[in-house]
Amino acid sequence: MTDSKGASTADRTVPRDPSRFEARFAARATGIKSSAMRDLMSLSERPDIISLAGGFPDTDSFPASVYDDVWTAVSSGHRASSLQYGPTEGLLELREAISHLMAEDGMVAQPDGLLVTAGGQQAIALAMRTFIDPGDIVIAEGPTYPGAVPTLTTYQARVIHIPLDAHGMSIDLLEEQLDRLAVQGEKPKLIYTIPNFHNPGGVTMSRQRRERLVALAAERDVLIVEDNPYGPVRYEGEALPSLWELDGGAGGVIYLSTFSKILAPGMRIGWVAAPAPVLRKMNLGKQAIDLCSGTLSQRFIVEYLRRYDWREHVARLNGIYRHRRDALLAALDQHFPQEATWTRPEGGLFVWATLPEYIHTGELLARAIERHQVAFVPGEAAYLDGQGGNSMRLNFSGAREEIIAEGVARIGAAIESMIDLQRALGGGR
Ligand SMILES: Cc1ncc(COP(=O)(O)O)c(C=O)c1O
Repeated sequence: MTDSKGASTADRTVPRDPSRFEARFAARATGIKSSAMRDLMSLSERPDIISLAGGFPDTDSFPASVYDDVWTAVSSGHRASSLQYGPTEGLLELREAISHLMAEDGMVAQPDGLLVTAGGQQAIALAMRTFIDPGDIVIAEGPTYPGAVPTLTTYQARVIHIPLDAHGMSIDLLEEQLDRLAVQGEKPKLIYTIPNFHNPGGVTMSRQRRERLVALAAERDVLIVEDNPYGPVRYEGEALPSLWELDGGAGGVIYLSTFSKILAPGMRIGWVAAPAPVLRKMNLGKQAIDLCSGTLSQRFIVEYLRRYDWREHVARLNGIYRHRRDALLAALDQHFPQEATWTRPEGGLFVWATLPEYIHTGELLARAIERHQVAFVPGEAAYLDGQGGNSMRLNFSGAREEIIAEGVARIGAAIESMIDLQRALGGGR
C-alpha cells in the first residue's frame, strides 16, 4: 500500500531510528521478558506444525445448545446491562456464584471478599502490582508458570526459585532459603505457588507440604499467593485442601482462580479472594488498568451457572483430558530416550519432561520446528534465572490422541538427531 505521496505506508511501522524509542522506555518495559509461550502461540496457527506448546483447553466439547441457550438468556433478560460498564469488583451475582463455588470446595470467601478479574493472568498481575517494588523478592517454584514471567519482570521482582519434586515445592529447601535470607536481613514479599497440577511441572503439592507451607509462611510472616486454575481439573486421586482453606481466614493467603479451565478462556474472567485491605488495593489497581472486567462475559457466566451444572461439563473435559494424558505418556514411553524423565499428572494440562543435560531444549525447539514441524515450550521459559535448559513443557489438552502421539514421535526424532550429532562430536552418552 502507498500513501498520497507514493511512500509505502507499511514502512511507517518500522521506525527509521528505533533508538528514539529505546532510550525512552520505562525500566519496567525495558526489562520485560516475554512469555515464550505467547511467542509460540502464533505457531499453533500454522497448519503444518503440531503444537504441544499452548495450554488450550478443549472448547470444542462445550455444548452448542448450552451456548445458544445462555446467550438467549443474556439477550432477553440483560441486554442493556450486559452492554454497560460494571463495578470494578465485578457483578454481585457473579461474586455470589463464585463464593458458592468456592464453598463447595471447602473455601470460605464472602462475595465482598472477592474481586473479579480479566482472567487469572490479571489476578497475578494485580497481586504483583500491589506488593512488588523493584528488587523485592518473590519466591516461586522452579519451574514456575511461564505466563507469570513477563509479570514478574514487569514489576522487577527478584525471583528465587525453589525446586519442585513429585510432591510439589520442597518446603525443606524453602525453609533453608528463608533462613539464608534472614541472615542477610532480607525477607520475601510473596511466595507464588501453584499447588494443583502445576503449570508447567505437572505435579501436585502433598497435603503435608501444604500444611507446612501455610505454617511456615505464617511463622515467617510472608504472604502466599495461591494460583489455582486447575483444582477441579482432576482425573485421579482425592482433592486436597487449598492453602486458602488451611489458612482458615488468618490472612496469610491471597487466592487466585479463573473460569478459563472450567468453562472457557475466551471469557477472560478470573477472580481473587483476599483479606479486605489487600482487596481494596487490588481494586484500585484494576481501576487504573481497565475499570472493570467484561460485563458480557460476567453475565454469560452468571446465567450459565444458574442454568447448568458446571461440574458436569468439567467431568466431561476431565474424561477427554485423561485419555489425552494417557496418549502423551504412552508416546513418551515409546519415543523418548531412556535417560529422559517426566511427570505423571493426576490432572491439569501439562507434563514436564527432562532430557539428558547435554540437550538444550531451546536448540532442540529450533530443530523440532524447522525439520520436524512440531513445537513445545522449552524449559528456560519457566525460570527467570536461566535454569531449565534441558527440560520442556508438553501440553495434552489441546489436541486429539493421534495428533499428540505424532507430535511426540516427531519430538523424539528431533531428540534422536541431536543425540546423534552429539555422538558424532564425541560428547553426550
Ligand atoms: C498457573 C496459571 N495461572 C494463571 C493462568 C492464566 O489464566 P487465565 O487464562 O484465566 O488468564 C494460567 C493459564 O494457563 C495458568 O496456567
